[in-house]
Amino acid sequence: MLLRHGLTCSALLGTRDARHGVVAVTFLAVFMQVVVEASSWWSLAMNPLLIPEAYIIGAQPLCSQLAGLSKGQKKLCQLYQDHMKYIGEGAKTGIRECQYQFRHRRWNCSTVDNSSVFGRVMHIGSRETAFTYAISAAGVVNAVSRACREGDLSSCGCSRAARPKDLPRDWLWGGCGDNLNYGYRFSKEFVDAREREKTYPKFTTENARLLMNLHNNEAGRRAVYDLAHVSCKCHGVSGSCSLKTCWLQLADFRKVGDMLKEKYDSAAAMKVNGRGKLVQQQNKFNPPTALDLVYIDPSPDYCIGNKTTGSLGTSGRLCNKTSEGMDGCALMCCGRGYDQYKAQVVERCHCKFHWCCYVKCKKCTRTVDQFVCK
Ligand SMILES: *[C@@H]1O[C@H](CO)[C@@H](O)[C@H](O)[C@H]1NC(C)=O
Ligand SMILES: *[C@@H]1O[C@H](CO)[C@@H](O)[C@H](O)[C@H]1NC(C)=O
Ligand SMILES: *[C@@H]1O[C@H](CO)[C@@H](O)[C@H](O)[C@H]1NC(C)=O
Ligand SMILES: *[C@@H]1O[C@H](CO)[C@@H](O)[C@H](O)[C@H]1NC(C)=O
Repeated sequence: MLLRHGLTCSALLGTRDARHGVVAVTFLAVFMQVVVEASSWWSLAMNPLLIPEAYIIGAQPLCSQLAGLSKGQKKLCQLYQDHMKYIGEGAKTGIRECQYQFRHRRWNCSTVDNSSVFGRVMHIGSRETAFTYAISAAGVVNAVSRACREGDLSSCGCSRAARPKDLPRDWLWGGCGDNLNYGYRFSKEFVDAREREKTYPKFTTENARLLMNLHNNEAGRRAVYDLAHVSCKCHGVSGSCSLKTCWLQLADFRKVGDMLKEKYDSAAAMKVNGRGKLVQQQNKFNPPTALDLVYIDPSPDYCIGNKTTGSLGTSGRLCNKTSEGMDGCALMCCGRGYDQYKAQVVERCHCKFHWCCYVKCKKCTRTVDQFVCK
């Protein structure tokens, strides 16, 4: 059973073209230019068009207007127009979390004002690219699961997940929960569509990249799925909590970001093997699970702006003079040095509690030193 409206896989798989030529060349995947579409469904995060009132059942101006959708994604858009807003929101949540997680790194997940969203750096099958695919896929599961629960989508409602076995017997199961099953299935269908429409010869870098994307999309979805938990509310006479109602609840998205960031740190370097499968470059490590991130190319150093790789460089970035970490001036500025500025920061201060019940503060200005990479 897939999505409720009887959408079958053939809509997506029917578009496969049969280019099953076998190429007997092994690629060393070092900064190889992989053909990746410049635009992606990520652009839904940037699109201001997505106003629910603008959907007209039966008419399809919306889907053809949206940039970045693949053939299969356009089809899904036509069938599930009301979902598009949440896919956009999910992508936006993912991008925001990515920027938070990478705020002290040379590559800071900045977007470019363009339908390519993250720019050409995504052409490199790096760890950073892996993280970006995972976190945005996770954002979509999150947004769609929640939208079901909120009653914002016509084809889904509250979660119908089975009662957990370990739930105490006198607690009620059946509050309206986040519909993770639906969110997971829909976002898998939608987000993976572009990759599923393609077939490349088995041993090519393009195929390795395709498998990498699919793996990381799944890792992102699984993070949301695995972090979801049971949440309960007390009832009973004047808060006695003699009765509890429980439901399935999405984790705070920050937790998803933290988990995927850990997966980024331990991501596995992969290559395609003789049978066209993605395998580890070094098999002394445990093979990655469905929850782990994988990559195929080494990361550029992101130090200097480069139009070819899409790296923005770190010139102009703030750095921390005393830190020895990635946010420290030595690493952030890649040895180019930094400029020091005095900056004014406005803070709340001299806060007083007033009976009853508010806190009043003054504004104080403080001068701080700021360090900016050359
Ligand atoms: C948008 O992206 C394309 C492809 O990555 C690039 O060639 C073009 O210069 C970009 N345009 C702007 C305005 O950044
Ligand atoms: C940009 O990166 C490419 C690929 O790594 C490299 O060949 C080229 O020399 C770089 N260009 C500049 C201006 O650094
Ligand atoms: C991220 O880095 C780019 C390029 O160095 C910079 O322009 C941008 O302001 C940075 N964004 C944040 C939030 O620091
Ligand atoms: C700079 O780094 C040091 C050491 O890691 C840390 O204690 C300090 O809070 C940082 N300063 C800022 C402004 O982030």
